[in-house]
Amino acid sequence: MTAVVGRLLHRDPYSGAAHSRVSLETTMFEELPILPPDSILGLAAACRADPNPDKVDLTIGIYMDEAGLCPVFEAIKQAQRSLVEEEQTKAYIPPQGDPAFLDGMIELVVGSEHLAARADSVGAVQAPGGCGAVRLGAEVLKASGTGGKVWISDPSWPVHVPLITSTGLALSEYRYYDPQTHGVNFEGMIEDLGAAQHGDIVLLHGCCHNPSGADLSREQWETVASMAVEQGFTPMIDLAYQGFGEGLDADVYGLRLLLSNVSEVVIAASLSKNMGLYRERTGIAIFVGPDARTAEATVSQAKAAARRNYSMPPAHGALLAGRVLSNVRLRSSWEAELATMCERINTLRTDFQGRLESASGRDFSFVARENGMFSFLGLTVEQARRLRSERSLYMLDSSRINIASLNSDNMDRVVDAVVSVL
Ligand SMILES: Cc1ncc(COP(=O)(O)O)c(C=O)c1O
Repeated sequence: MTAVVGRLLHRDPYSGAAHSRVSLETTMFEELPILPPDSILGLAAACRADPNPDKVDLTIGIYMDEAGLCPVFEAIKQAQRSLVEEEQTKAYIPPQGDPAFLDGMIELVVGSEHLAARADSVGAVQAPGGCGAVRLGAEVLKASGTGGKVWISDPSWPVHVPLITSTGLALSEYRYYDPQTHGVNFEGMIEDLGAAQHGDIVLLHGCCHNPSGADLSREQWETVASMAVEQGFTPMIDLAYQGFGEGLDADVYGLRLLLSNVSEVVIAASLSKNMGLYRERTGIAIFVGPDARTAEATVSQAKAAARRNYSMPPAHGALLAGRVLSNVRLRSSWEAELATMCERINTLRTDFQGRLESASGRDFSFVARENGMFSFLGLTVEQARRLRSERSLYMLDSSRINIASLNSDNMDRVVDAVVSVL
């Protein structure tokens, strides 16, 4: 659309005579480029539009139960009922976040042992989801004046890139996943991280690496912790799947090891998956530093970053999580349900491995070795695309699948389709 935006006084450059003319200018958005859909969300949308009743969506990172639904935890339902009954106001919660949520989350992630040792040096700010927490963490790191860069794994979750670079921090990659062994390329990783220096930040997935499902072993975490101490880089832990790997405490083994050894650690934790609070945007940025002053400084910086980006934190999810974490009955119900989900994912992994191996005669043992919801099937881009067009089986071009979207109804179809393109 072209609009007449004004009547301007125009002066003839030769005669100097002034006369008015109508100016035709484009509207603000007329030439604004239309961006392509997000690589992951776009595929999920394509699957929704696919009329094939046998279609299967393995693209998006959401826990699905046997019925193909993303369930609301029973503890969350109960907390929600009481919150609705008792809530007196929708006034803003404090800018740092809901106190019960902050305390419960710090204890869940950092752990009581570390808290006893370093309670004063822990600062935390509620954030809109794990993404908001990554962003707040990156903003505080940027504000520290570091001229260093942020090292991310190759591959990593693609959203890390815009979340971090939009603060002005530069990225570098370290080798992480080896498609030949379907595991961590630890030699490559430590060789690359050998160049990380004081002032650099190394982003590590706390557990259940997205997109590969390949996690560091305990010994490997120990090596990374020693490197952080010797080289002086700052670890930043993205913790989006605590409780989806081996259990709530086992999944933060590496994170807590770093806390025992390294003076500064940044953590971005999400409750989207492990409390099923996806749409409620519930996360936390935690800064563990050397003392109380640095904790206060990081919190003040994170609150300022929040204020200039979105002002105040969303309340609903954090109020629910605060109730679940601080109430013994709700907490044990939540932990039991989460453990059941984790077991289901691990059973799906073994089952899927067995069926793929007997249908193809190939080795898929890596599927059962990995943690969390994701796995690369090791297919080519062309094979992944054929599966979409010929079999209505949707996975990312990288052949990353969400194991939790498998169920007894679709498993055979998925195995059959995958084997057909091998
Ligand atoms: C690795 C990783 N980090 C962070 C997140 C953050 O998720 P959210 O912002 O929905 O809490 C996700 C979600 O998929 C993720 O996979």
